[in-house]
Amino acid sequence: MSEQRIVVLTGAGISAESGIRTFRDGDGLWEEHRIEDVATPQAWQADPMFVWRFYQARRRQMLEVEPNPAHVALADLAARHEEFILITQNVDDLHERAGNQSTIHMHGRLKTLRCEASGQHAVKMGEGDLQDEFLTCQCCVEAQRLRPDIVWFGEMPMHMEEIYAAVEQCDIFLVVGSSGHVYPASGLVNIANAAGAKTILVNLEPPVNADAFAEVHLGKAGEILPALIENLP
Ligand code: APR
Repeated sequence: MSEQRIVVLTGAGISAESGIRTFRDGDGLWEEHRIEDVATPQAWQADPMFVWRFYQARRRQMLEVEPNPAHVALADLAARHEEFILITQNVDDLHERAGNQSTIHMHGRLKTLRCEASGQHAVKMGEGDLQDEFLTCQCCVEAQRLRPDIVWFGEMPMHMEEIYAAVEQCDIFLVVGSSGHVYPASGLVNIANAAGAKTILVNLEPPVNADAFAEVHLGKAGEILPALIENLP
């Protein structure tokens, strides 16, 4: 067991090789849609059925994809470290399915749905939970509509206190597959640098915050991570 405290932050790039499209590659659209049409509270207010169906399709797609060697490499890394924290911006469950059960999802999860009235969320992945029609909660006296359990643009990311505390105390901060466009995730590397951690990046192309990292590896996460992780303390 290594005594190094490792914090890993992943983004959409780590799931790309599993067949889930990233947000900002190529045409700038997410699954044929502009982000603001599907991932904002305003979009949900304006056309909830459209947004609901978009996320129901993402939830069904999740059942068809598998973790790739990059997810597996991070599970191996976790097994070698007593102090290991995995933070993801991704809403899929591929880290968990590769073996990282306690992944922190700062932008929410596809697997769960949230009651609009009470804010309670629960895993809802049964056959009847994946339909195109709205679902209602079972937590309120008068059933309320469920919404995707996703942090949309303009909403507060989840678990930030825990995330800041982990990054402030780590020895190694590794970021995989994130374009560095979305704050506060993109600013965590600065906190890690200030804490004296070694900062490492694995990404297909240089992200906007590439200069903040001490070590940069450009290429596919599934190809780079397994060997990189072998060589980490
Ligand atoms: N291996 C490594 N990196 C890759 C790969 C790969 N196989 N494929 C793509 N990438 C890189 C891209 O070059 C890009 O820089 O992954 C990055 C993905 O960037 P984004 O699509 O912007 O994803 P992310 O940084 O996770 O977005 C942050 O934005 O829309 C919101 O809430 C959403 O969590 C998301 C947040």
